[in-house]
Amino acid sequence: MAYPVHRLRRLRQSESLRRLIRETRVSVDQLVMPLFVRPGANIRMAIPSMPGQFQLSIDQLVRECQELRDLRIPAVLLFGIPQSKDERAGGAYTKDGIVQRAVQAIKTQVPGLSVITDVCLCAYMSHGHCGVIQREKGEGRRGKGKATSRAPRPSPLAPEQGVVIDHDATLELLAKTAVSHARSGADLVAPSDMMDGRVRAIRQALDAAGLTGTPIMSYAAKYASSLYGPFREAVDSTPAFGDRKSYQMDPANVEEALREVAADLEEGADIVIIKPALAYLDVIVRVKQRFGQPVAAFNVSGEYAMVKAAAARGWLMERATWFEMLLAMRRAGADLLITYWAKDAAKLLRER
Ligand code: PBG
Ligand code: ZN
Repeated sequence: MAYPVHRLRRLRQSESLRRLIRETRVSVDQLVMPLFVRPGANIRMAIPSMPGQFQLSIDQLVRECQELRDLRIPAVLLFGIPQSKDERAGGAYTKDGIVQRAVQAIKTQVPGLSVITDVCLCAYMSHGHCGVIQREKGEGRRGKGKATSRAPRPSPLAPEQGVVIDHDATLELLAKTAVSHARSGADLVAPSDMMDGRVRAIRQALDAAGLTGTPIMSYAAKYASSLYGPFREAVDSTPAFGDRKSYQMDPANVEEALREVAADLEEGADIVIIKPALAYLDVIVRVKQRFGQPVAAFNVSGEYAMVKAAAARGWLMERATWFEMLLAMRRAGADLLITYWAKDAAKLLRER
């Protein structure tokens, strides 16, 4: 049945009619606000590549969290910027680490707000990789001089020479980090490293520590994307050599994303993240349809920066643009929206 019997415009003629047939909604209940915490006191340091976002000292972080809680945002996702870095990411799992102290402060001072912690090693490693570096692939085959040093060279690698991660050592440190966060009071832990088997390792370690009730939100399909640039500047986690392609996913693949998600769910993930969001909506659609489990879209720093930069030039209307993007993630099937616009979105939704 088609025109002239049917005229789809009939139901578009007023906002009240449009509201009645609207299929997708963005609600404050779905929002997760990422926050950056750093050492010091009374610090609110602007992040140049992410206008409107800050590195916060714990006192400022607590104030921010109170505001977010009052806006009815259910959860924050914490990223730590440590005092110092080393080759074993010691700052990630020490009892008095920056994230550990931040979680304790929020949980005691901002009841009613859930705290999710990003579990990774990159911001705590002197080399900026998400795992322990074994050695460079091909190092022993170069033939020039002795290839005995296991220390990574701080030089850019050719694209075919991916960094080699010491997998077992990495899983151990990730599990230690997750347990340490949960012991400090984290409500959920979110491993973002993309190592194989890390969900199982973390689940086992949490259970062994008596933390059977702490859910895991895994970055199940995390792509080796150019859209993380502003974030790496924000937390100073740009790899000193090589790239993350030997552990993050190839942007060309979607069947592989389904295998990643299947593996994480099998290993005990409670929520799976697809990251980035906007250029990977097809992945969200397929993961939601295939598994029917809670899915989170990570609206990453580069997606945020693009809109901010264009809006600053008057080329895009900022609020309308990001709202449309959040709606698209929901339409694709995302349940949770991890977005740097969470606070703005909560305010907008309150006004309406
Ligand atoms: C670190 C991590 C990254 C992001 C979240 N956790 C960056 C990376 O993998 O280099 C990206 C977040 C964003 O860009 O907003 N494992
Ligand atoms: Zn990492």
